[in-house]
Amino acid sequence: MDIVLSGIRPTGHLHLGNYFGALRNFTKMQHEHRCYFFIADLHSLTTHPKSDNFHDNVRNVLAEYLAAGLDPDVATIYVQSDIPEIAELYVLLNMLAYQGELERTSSFKEKVRKHSDNVNAGLLTYPVLMASDILIHRAHKVPVGKDQEQHLEMTRTLARRFNNLYGVGVFPEPTAFNFGNELIKIPGLDGSGKMGKSEGNGIFLVDDEKTIAKKVMRAVTDSGPTQLQSKMSEPVRNIFTILEAVATPDTVAHFRKQYDLCTIRYGDLKKQLAADIWRAIAPIHTRIAEIKADRDYLRRITLHGAANARESARATLKEVKKAVGFKAF
Ligand code: TRP
Repeated sequence: MDIVLSGIRPTGHLHLGNYFGALRNFTKMQHEHRCYFFIADLHSLTTHPKSDNFHDNVRNVLAEYLAAGLDPDVATIYVQSDIPEIAELYVLLNMLAYQGELERTSSFKEKVRKHSDNVNAGLLTYPVLMASDILIHRAHKVPVGKDQEQHLEMTRTLARRFNNLYGVGVFPEPTAFNFGNELIKIPGLDGSGKMGKSEGNGIFLVDDEKTIAKKVMRAVTDSGPTQLQSKMSEPVRNIFTILEAVATPDTVAHFRKQYDLCTIRYGDLKKQLAADIWRAIAPIHTRIAEIKADRDYLRRITLHGAANARESARATLKEVKKAVGFKAF
């Protein structure tokens, strides 16, 4: 059975884009593969070295993952920093990662541009830590977006380099997990681009009914269609894309027809969209609050996840250390 692994940096609440883009698929995927889902708290330190709500962020993402349907009895769900073996593998893989190739990574170059005041070594070796996350469980498949493909490529390079250098076959070379058509890209509410964490663009799983309605009513549109079957502007197309994710096909068809006939009222469209978004996420929203309040449960889940993850990690590290040449006296 394939081993599938996914990590997420705890830098804010999960939004509809996370849910329809990945999380909802994970809830199915966990029954079909051996899945590891973890919260990459170490990675978040590369850009947020001192965060007042470090632990809260981890707890939020964990509760949101569980509320959305990741099942700790089915998948291994853990916090990255609970697995010291990852850091140990990271040290060893760093010896195989060259300065030049790390400096050429586009995510690094972008971070240097945006955070020129904190270009730390952790940022430079971010792909090595990510490779350690993946290789510590010898994962075969990693669901990643376009922005992470280069990191996955680096993971393959390091896996191959390790295997070749030591003449072993410890690491498989992981490939991107592809959801195919099931992957829905959710655009933002601000007229262009994808949904993200920025202000005025996203709807979060923790948003209540009123907040959702307010955000949707403020979403960018245009002045309306002026001729029969006129071409949709990007902001309006985006509203329809989100509607398609949450509403019935009949509802979508109804508003499309009104658009084509130029009788559409964006206010009505938005009211419907807000109602359907709320219907789609209300159960998750309620569970988030319950789970977040249950510290005992979260404690049990993270201990259980860490125990399972460490078992797999220790087995890999044992082979790695043997290959490198560590021996007990
Ligand atoms: N770098 C990923 C991101 O920013 C998060 C991440 C860390 C990750 N380790 C990983 C993703 C391992 C997949 C596998 O989105």
